[in-house]
Amino acid sequence: MIPTSQLSQLPAHFAALIEPIDAFLQCPTPEAWLAEAAKPSNLQTLLVDHCNCELKAAQTGLLMMRRYGLSLDAIELIKDWTKPFEDYVYFLAGDGKFPDKKAAFSVELAAKDETPLARDIIRKMLALVKEELMHFEQVLDVMRRQKVDYVRLSASRYAGGMIKKVRTYEPAALMDKLVIGALIEARSCERFARLAPRLDPAIGQFYLRLLKSEARHYQDYLSLAQQVAEQDVKLAAGFDQRVQELAEVEASLIASEDTEFRFHSGVPATAH
Ligand SMILES: [Fe+2]
Ligand SMILES: [Fe+2]
Repeated sequence: MIPTSQLSQLPAHFAALIEPIDAFLQCPTPEAWLAEAAKPSNLQTLLVDHCNCELKAAQTGLLMMRRYGLSLDAIELIKDWTKPFEDYVYFLAGDGKFPDKKAAFSVELAAKDETPLARDIIRKMLALVKEELMHFEQVLDVMRRQKVDYVRLSASRYAGGMIKKVRTYEPAALMDKLVIGALIEARSCERFARLAPRLDPAIGQFYLRLLKSEARHYQDYLSLAQQVAEQDVKLAAGFDQRVQELAEVEASLIASEDTEFRFHSGVPATAH
C-alpha cells in the first residue's frame, strides 16, 4: 500500500520489514496526515507526542505483565520502574537523566503460574518495556538537539478508540488487548517509514532506526494474541475475523477526520 515511489526511498531491508505490516494494516497513512506531520510548525507536537507514546507503550507492556504474567512478589519489584519517566512527563520533574535500564531491570521476575503463556508474556513484554523506555530517552535527545522543548500534550483519540472495543470477558479481553497492541506498533512502524524521507535527515534517520524494534513489537503482540486464541476453541475459530474487525476500527480512526494533530491522529480537519 505504500506507493512504490516512497518505498524506493527506503533501503531494501527496511522495505522488506514494512511489507507484512502494510498487509496487516487496513489502510495506509493518508497523504494529508504526512503533509501535516512534515510541517516545521508541527515538529514540537510530533516529537513531544512521540515521546509520550513511547512512555505509554512501556506502561502498556508493564500493565500486561502485571495483569497476565507476574507473581505478586514480582509485581512489587516492578512497581516503580516507570516513575522517573512519569515524573518527567506528568510533573516536568527531574533533569531528563534516567536510571540505566540494564542495571535497574535485571531482576528475577517470577511468573504467576507455570503456563508457557505467563512466561512468554513476561519475556516479550520485558524486552518491549526496556526498548520503549530507551526510545523515550532517544526522542528526548533528538528534541534537545533540535532545540524543541518538552510541553504537556493531551493524548489523541486513537488508542482509546480501540480500547473501548475490548471484550469484557477473559480470555477474549486479553486477546483483544494484544491485537490492539500489535495494531498500534504496526501503525507506528508504518508512520516512521513513510515520514522518515520527509523530515530533517537527522530525525528521518532516527525514525528508520526505530523501525526494526517496532516491527518486532508488532510481531510479539500478534504471536501472543495467537497463543491466547489457541487455548480456547471458540477464540481460535474466530481469531482471523476478530483481528479483521479490530484492524478495521484502527483504520477508521486513521482514515477519518481528526481535530487534533498527533502521532496517531486521523486526517487533519484543516485538510478539507
Ligand atoms: Fe518505541
Ligand atoms: Fe514499540
